[in-house]
Formats: sequence, C-alpha cells, structure tokens
Amino acid sequence: MSKLLYGIVFALAFILVSANIGYELIDAVSTWNLSNYIKIFKSFGKRIVQFDMFTVLLTGGIIGVLYVVLKWLYQLLFVPMNRVRLIEEVGYIREVDRMSKKDMANLVQKRKNMGKPPPVYPNGWFAVAESRDLKKGESKSYSILGLDLAVFRGADGRAHVIDAYCPHLGANFAIGGRVFDNCIECPFHGWRFSGDDGKCKKIPYSSKIPETARVKAYNTLELNGFIYVWYHAEGIEPTWQPPEIEEITKGQLVFGGRSEHYINAHIEEVPENGADISHLAQVHGPIMAAGVDLRDTYNRIWEFGKHEWAGEWKQLPEGHIGQLNLTHGLKLFGVHIPVLDMKVQANQIGPGIVYLTFESSIFGKGCYLQSLAPVEPMKQKIVHQVYMHWSVPMCIRKFFLLGEAIQIERDIMIWNNKKYESKPVLTGTMEDQMLAKHRRWYKQFYSENSPTLHQSKKDLSW
Ligand code: FES
Ligand SMILES: [Fe+2]
Repeated sequence: MSKLLYGIVFALAFILVSANIGYELIDAVSTWNLSNYIKIFKSFGKRIVQFDMFTVLLTGGIIGVLYVVLKWLYQLLFVPMNRVRLIEEVGYIREVDRMSKKDMANLVQKRKNMGKPPPVYPNGWFAVAESRDLKKGESKSYSILGLDLAVFRGADGRAHVIDAYCPHLGANFAIGGRVFDNCIECPFHGWRFSGDDGKCKKIPYSSKIPETARVKAYNTLELNGFIYVWYHAEGIEPTWQPPEIEEITKGQLVFGGRSEHYINAHIEEVPENGADISHLAQVHGPIMAAGVDLRDTYNRIWEFGKHEWAGEWKQLPEGHIGQLNLTHGLKLFGVHIPVLDMKVQANQIGPGIVYLTFESSIFGKGCYLQSLAPVEPMKQKIVHQVYMHWSVPMCIRKFFLLGEAIQIERDIMIWNNKKYESKPVLTGTMEDQMLAKHRRWYKQFYSENSPTLHQSKKDLSW
C-alpha cells in the first residue's frame, strides 16, 4: 500500500515539475481563484504535448535522486536498524566457486565433527519472540528447544505460549487460529483453548468437553521487549526470573534497532565467549572497518586502529547469573583516545539471556539485550536489541548496534566451523581458568532428562 502511495506521489510530482506548473498551482491555491485553476489545467494539457525528451529525463532524474536521498536520510535518522543475517550469510568460506552459500553451509554442518557436547537444551528462560512482533489478537508459530509452539496475544494484551498442536486432530493453532479473549481457536474444527491453563473451553458442536482436551501452557514472561518462555527438562517451575530494566520500561533508554543471526554450534559456546577473555584481543581487536571475515581483519590497511579490552568473568551470588566486567579502549595510530573509553558489564542470566550495559563518556549509558535460543539441537538464533538514552540520535544508536553485530559475526565465523571441545587443553593462566570456571558454572543448567544431541538429532540440513 505504501509503495503504491509513493508511486502516486512520485508520478504526480514528476508531472507537475515537468509541466512547470508547481508555482502556478501554489498561486491558485493561495488566491482561491477558480479561474486560475481552469487556466492551469488548460495550459497543462498544452505543455504535456510540448514536452521535449531532455526536460522529461532531467526532471525525472532530479526527482529520482532527490527521492532516494530523502528516503535514505529518513531511514538513517528515524528508522531503527533491522539487520537480519541468515545462517549461510555469515561465517562460511566457499570452497568451490560455483557452490551456493547455502550448500556450502550445509556441507560444513554435515561433515563437522560435533565433538561430545553437553545436552543441547539447557533449562531456563528463553526468548520465543520479541514483543513488537505480536499484536493484540495475533498468533504466530515458533520452534525452539525442540518444541513447536503457538504464541498469541490475548484481548487484555497478555502473551501466551502453548504447544502448537491441537489434541483433537493435530492442527497447528498458530497457522490460521483466531484469538478470542485469552483463548485461541483451532483453525480446523474450532475448538477453543485457554492460554492460561491450556484447557479446552469450547467445542462448537459438543456440549461435553473431554477431560483430556488440553494442551501444555508454558510459563510466560514479557519483559524488556521480549516474550520469554520457561523450559525445564524435569518439568520444574521457574526458580528465578530475569530482572526488569526500568530505564527501558520508563522510556529513558529507547530502542535503536535489532540484529538477528543464526549460529551452527552448541548453545554453550555462545555464553562461554563471555568468559573467554583471551579471544577478545584476537577476534575483537581489529576495528569495525576491518569487517567480519577473519581472513581479512588483520589486513595491514586497518592496522592504524585497535580495540583494547581488559576484564574478568565471575559468578554472582544469585547462582544463575554470570558477570563479565570489561573496559574498552580504542587506539588510533598507537595513541589511546580517552573519549572513546567505555565500561561494559554483561550479565549472563541463565543460558538464554544477556543484559549488557555500557557507559560511554560521550553518549552516556546504553544497553544491549541479547536473547539466545536453540532452533535446532545445534543451531541457535541470537537476537540483539540496542537501547540508548532518548537524546542520542537514532543514527548513533544504530552505529552502536552495527558495531555489536560486526563483532558477533566474527564470533560466528569461529562457532560455525568449530567443534565443541569437551576436554579443552587449558593453561594455568587466569584467562583459561575463567573458561574452566564458566564450564563448571554452566553445568547447573543441565539436568537428568536434558535431551542430548543423540536423542534430539533430526535431519540437520535445511
Ligand atoms: S484439529 Fe483442532 S479442532 Fe480439530
Ligand atoms: Fe566474542
């Protein structure tokens, strides 16, 4: 619809400017003189006939360029970033020229030595969707943690997550199901199920509702722009909750955009990166301009700039939180630039959530929210949202998100091609000991019935 509108506005502007009647039209409007309008339309007809090709092309060209520039400026200054990279778009090296990126990614994933990874679905809160994706009365289908889920937002605005398949004949609620109050109606025969307890509340052609007509309704929490669902392999109720970030709820920190990436690796690899201090200089040392391909990041062109990181990882007294404290500095031509110093604190809250706050001397406090969830046993979806003070221009907020996305894409190149090393060879240094500490800490998220790769292995190609 908006494209049609753009088209009409563009065509009108083109005709008006080409026929050079813009000024006359403004005159007529300002004087409210009907005879002026008639004159304009008469002369407009004549001029259309008299167009010469050069004027037409020149005018069209000018309007076209103006349109592109204005649209670009509008997007840059007012529209939040949405950077989505599919699995094959990041982190693979094409070995055969004519092979598609997708085939290459598939080949690497199939032949990769998976190692002996821990269970593939740890216990905790995971983002199943982002709040902005689900309007009132809307339902959507998602697959994470080996579960097919229907997510819908009821009439009172609350989000619900239930098993996707109807116990009657197995239709997927989220594919065509309509929402009534806090129930979802199955698109196949119209049975209605409550999002609160999963029980069937209505069968259009039966006054009796079977006792077993119910689906699993998951513990759901909507917080900081995400819809989280609780997963526990033993069926244990939530033992902790992610905290609310008040600056976001109160609108002091505002949205600057999101990025979405997919990773072919075990889920634990991603949080482990936060405790891996020694990779920071190696992978994240080269400046943003050096790009995401690890074969090029050490190109001599970019040697004039360098990120410097120092920090440590520790477990907080709340057992489910691991904390990384970092200081970041930037050197240009060997000179440290103090105004670009930043303090960073990343809280890993359970296996699927990171709230990372940073304090920049120029732009103040900001926050990256990271959600991580397995969409397949060895394939993760990772989303980052950035929030900064409302006074920071949108283009700066987007720049911060781009910086984060570039850094994560470098990590993805490592993750997509590595195996899970269950018995790493570690040094006795503080850096490697933090890795060992992280592995011990992370074990708390696995339990007796957590599914292993072997148990949950489906076809891993796509
Ligand atoms: S399959 Fe859902 S109502 Fe029949
Ligand atoms: Fe990293």
